[in-house]
Amino acid sequence: MQIFHHVTSVREALGKERAAGRTVGFVPTMGNLHQAHIELVKIAQQHCDVVVVSIFVNPLQFGLHEDWDKYPRTYEADIAKLQDASCDYLFYPDEKEIYPNGMAEQTRVVVPTMTDVLCGASRPGHFEGVTTVVSKLFNIVQPDEAVFGIKDFQQLAVIRRMVEDLCIPVKITAGEIFREPDGLAMSSRNSYITPEERPRVSQLNESLNWVREQIEQGNREFLALEAEAVKQIEAAGFKVDYFTISSSRTLQPAAHDDTEITILGAMYTQAARLIDNVSLTLG
Ligand code: PAJ
Repeated sequence: MQIFHHVTSVREALGKERAAGRTVGFVPTMGNLHQAHIELVKIAQQHCDVVVVSIFVNPLQFGLHEDWDKYPRTYEADIAKLQDASCDYLFYPDEKEIYPNGMAEQTRVVVPTMTDVLCGASRPGHFEGVTTVVSKLFNIVQPDEAVFGIKDFQQLAVIRRMVEDLCIPVKITAGEIFREPDGLAMSSRNSYITPEERPRVSQLNESLNWVREQIEQGNREFLALEAEAVKQIEAAGFKVDYFTISSSRTLQPAAHDDTEITILGAMYTQAARLIDNVSLTLG
C-alpha cells in the first residue's frame, strides 16, 4: 500500500492509474478503523480497479465541545488493517494540507434544510464540515465511485444530495450497517462506552427493530411508537437525543402513507453519543 500525505503526490499517483485506464474507488474515513470500514473497502474493491482510503479527523465537522481532541487515533493499527485488506492507497493528510488558509477562511459547501434535522439539529455546523471536507477529498482523489456506510444514514443522504446538486461526477454507493453480535452498530465512538453500560447499549437497536416490527404489523401511530421507544431507551438508562420515524427520502417525519421509511435514533451514554437506524419498505 502506498501512503501519501500531500495533495500533489496522491494526485500524481492516481493520475497515472487513471491514464492507464483504471477506475478509482474511494472510502473516506476518520481512522480508528474497524470491520465496518474494511467492509466498505471490500465493496470499493469489487467495483473498482484501485482503492484509496483517506484518514483525516476533520476538525471542521466537530463542535467546540465535542470529541475532536480525544477521538481515537490509531495510525499504525489502521495501516496494518488496510494492508491486510489489500488496499492500494492511503491518503493521510494533516490539518495544514487540508485547510492551508485556516478553517475560518475555508470555502464551505452547504446542503440546506435536510441538515437542519436529526443529527444536524443537535450538532450545528457538523454537516457543513462533512460536505466541505468530502467535496475537497473528492476533488483531490477524483474517484469514479465513493462508498459510504448506511450507519450514518443522514450523512449518506446529504452527500448524495451534494453530489446531485453540484453535478460532482462520482457514483455514491451505500454499505450495509455492520454490527456487533448483540446488534450494536460498530463505531469508533464505541470505545467511549463503559463496561458497565456495554450490556445495555444495544437497547437503541432493539427499540429501532421493535418499532420496525410494529409498523410492519400495520401500526401507524408513529408518535405513540416514538414515545414508547424513547421510554424503552430511557428505562435502559440512556438519554435520548432523537428517535424519529422518517421518510427515507426527505428525512422529514413520515406520513402515514409513506412506503419508504427509516427509523433513526441517537442516544447519549456517559461519554458517547451513539446513532443507529433501520429502514423498511411497505408494500
Ligand atoms: P467515519 O466515522 O470514520 O466513517 C467512515 C465511513 O464508515 C462512513 O461512510 C461511515 O458511515 C462508515 N461506517 C462507520 N461505521 C459503520 C458501520 N457500523 N456500518 C457501516 N458503515 C459504517 O463518517 C465519517 O468518518 C466522516 O464523517 C467522513 C465521511 C470521513 C468525513 O469526514
